[in-house]
Amino acid sequence: YSARLVIDPGSAFARVPRRIFGTFVEHMGRSVHEGIYEPGHPSADDSGFRSDVLALVQELGATTVRYPGGNFVSGYRWEDGVGPRDERPVRLDAAWHSVETNQVGLHEFAEWADQAGLELMYAVNLGTRGIAEAADVLEYANHPGGTELSERRRRNGADEPFGIRLWCLGNEVDGPWQIGHKTAEEYGRLAAESARLMKFIDPTVELVAAGSSNAEMPTFGEWERTVLRHTAGLVDHISVHAYYEESDGDAGSFLASGTGLDRYLETVAAIIDEAGAGPGSEHPVGISVDEWNVWYQRRWNEIDKPRVMTGEWPEAPRLIEDAYSVTDAVVVGSLLVSLLRHADRVSMANLAQLVNVIAPIRSEPNGPAWRQSTFFPFQRTAQLAAGRVIDPAAHPDAAVPLYDTARYGSVPLVDAVSTVGDDGTIALFVTNRSLTEDASIEISIAATGVRLVRAETLTTPPGGDRHTINDAEAQPVGFTDLGEAARLVPADADGASVLHLTVPA
Ligand code: AHR
Repeated sequence: YSARLVIDPGSAFARVPRRIFGTFVEHMGRSVHEGIYEPGHPSADDSGFRSDVLALVQELGATTVRYPGGNFVSGYRWEDGVGPRDERPVRLDAAWHSVETNQVGLHEFAEWADQAGLELMYAVNLGTRGIAEAADVLEYANHPGGTELSERRRRNGADEPFGIRLWCLGNEVDGPWQIGHKTAEEYGRLAAESARLMKFIDPTVELVAAGSSNAEMPTFGEWERTVLRHTAGLVDHISVHAYYEESDGDAGSFLASGTGLDRYLETVAAIIDEAGAGPGSEHPVGISVDEWNVWYQRRWNEIDKPRVMTGEWPEAPRLIEDAYSVTDAVVVGSLLVSLLRHADRVSMANLAQLVNVIAPIRSEPNGPAWRQSTFFPFQRTAQLAAGRVIDPAAHPDAAVPLYDTARYGSVPLVDAVSTVGDDGTIALFVTNRSLTEDASIEISIAATGVRLVRAETLTTPPGGDRHTINDAEAQPVGFTDLGEAARLVPADADGASVLHLTVPA
């Protein structure tokens, strides 16, 4: 099938928020323990962190990292993770039915994030705890010195404050599975008062109120309205969590997940506007897509959960270690397109998670670390999306055929977004949602001196198919040059160059 896109730098509508390429490390499963931290591993550094995993994290090129949860944070005592390691308590983690040894805490993680080049986004516990503890961890982390908490931090080895700007006010509090689950009224008041005190202590912090856990929650919409009624003017962002999976063999709907995210983001943006906190208002609230990814939740419910809920409390069990296919990577690409397309409203986003747990990077204890298929679209988009965002399908001369899906109705077969850097470099990110047909796309570029630098696509070698994955033994999924399938015809009399692209099914 054919499609037509138009890249007109004059139609750029928002800057790329670099924090959109954030990620997430939760104390659960083998994310921290045996993921980023494994003292006995041959590549471990003096602090016990794996340097092979760190190298892949650096290559991924994410910008921020949310920590320490997730569901975990709603039962977490931050004090357990600071001070001499041999004095730290071992605790039950009721969120994931595991044992937490606390050998990694704020100091170790902040140091690791620094090495990884990631800005730390810290979540406070508004499940079992409240305003006082949120204020305490902020004072401990950010106050220069001279108080009990800040001096404790200095005694624990961090003379300088951590200077954490981004703070999440709890996690998925709307979900009945959450430790300390609350109604919107209860949470709205707690978040507002925590925010007020946190800004008294450090006015430079940016705060994220917890939105709904997903767009299918029965309270979705009403939750955001109530929370914003209490917190607008006090918080800077409201969160969205969005996970997608292929179910009942409906690959067509799965490939259209980006359209699901588009609609979710547009609904939340409309509620923010209703609350008087839209762009241009006195205190605008952005959307923080705190958690997003492909996640096969059936695996958690049917395999992992029964395995850990046995009465034993394992340490670092294998939890939700999804192996991602080529199709999953196409969906991740499309979700990135959706985030960029809403760059005027999405202030940041975190691919959930980073290592082992629904992650672009996997590792085995005492063994290798490798890139999953989803690593590639994330890495390239984070590397190349710069400057301002263009929607190449929104131009009046663009034409993209639609296909029918059970979940989202009629959706475009080609999902694309483009950016133009301050140096004029144009990047185009395209997904072909067809399972059977190559997309023959003509892209008109309204700019002078256009030259094709690189064109590549995600592939598997012969014999592979859309279900192919990378694993510890072999990593067949990766980028390959589009070669003859990308051809640039230089500017015609109208000054537009035309790129002909064939994107495989
Ligand atoms: O990322 C895994 C879990 O998904 C997080 O702990 C929780 O916030 C969400 O439900």
